[in-house]
Amino acid sequence: MAHPTSDLAGRAQASADFLKARITDAPRIAMILGSGLGAIGDQLDDATAIDYAEIPNFPVSGVEGHKGRLVFGRLEGVPVVVMQGRSHFYEGWSMQEVTFPVRAFHLLGIDHLVVTNSAGGINADYKPGDLMIINDHINFTGQNPLHGPNEDAFGPRFPDMSDPYSAELRQLLHQVAHSRDIAVKEGVYAGVAGPSYETPAEVRMLRTLGGDAVGMSTVPEVIVASHCGMKVAGISCITNYAAGLSDTKLHHDEVKETADRVRETFTGLVRGLVQAIAHT
Ligand code: HPA
Repeated sequence: MAHPTSDLAGRAQASADFLKARITDAPRIAMILGSGLGAIGDQLDDATAIDYAEIPNFPVSGVEGHKGRLVFGRLEGVPVVVMQGRSHFYEGWSMQEVTFPVRAFHLLGIDHLVVTNSAGGINADYKPGDLMIINDHINFTGQNPLHGPNEDAFGPRFPDMSDPYSAELRQLLHQVAHSRDIAVKEGVYAGVAGPSYETPAEVRMLRTLGGDAVGMSTVPEVIVASHCGMKVAGISCITNYAAGLSDTKLHHDEVKETADRVRETFTGLVRGLVQAIAHT
């Protein structure tokens, strides 16, 4: 059988070329924002919004409440690009498709990725509304977006994953949180495939294996960002107690409500981080 091939690099280059022709300021920072947190994209100055459907090869997310567009503009005076809406593995996209925008960002010259998500709290000290700086993840999806022929243009076959959530950016996040009087936790994100929430036994397993919070996104994007040498900062909004840790049943509405409740604090933390990165 012939060796499998893909033209990921060529397709990502086509997306990057399309975007380059549409923007004036090349950003250094890309942001992938989770449920209810995409509002930052509406707060950019000098904004240019481009629908995913217009961009060659971009996966078009179907998740309700997500806009499905890139917004280029300035946050705190710093050029950034915000993904409003992301595609998830549970929608049926392959891991390569879910992470495709990260490769296009890399080809645009972006070297910092800020990822946020909603997550269930596993750590007994966590409660809904808490913000957790992600210091590491465990990939429980059973898949890897780098599976298949290596794209040498992006990075090595066997990429190092010893600092996936940059220690330097985590330190900046703590400084920003302190200066803005924002309480933060720091912990390990357990990434699962979804879309069903976990069972209580699964949550006990995730806790035993070192997870502090659980969610259905982020891990694929961070693996691909690490592969191409980007610095990543990740923040989870703890939107609910993970299954079995409270008497209530899990519902996506609760996730959205909590994310809405902490939106201003969360936005403040992200704004402060962008300012701090711009000064590095
Ligand atoms: N589990 C998985 N994903 C999630 C959760 C959860 O409890 N909350 C928000 N996203």
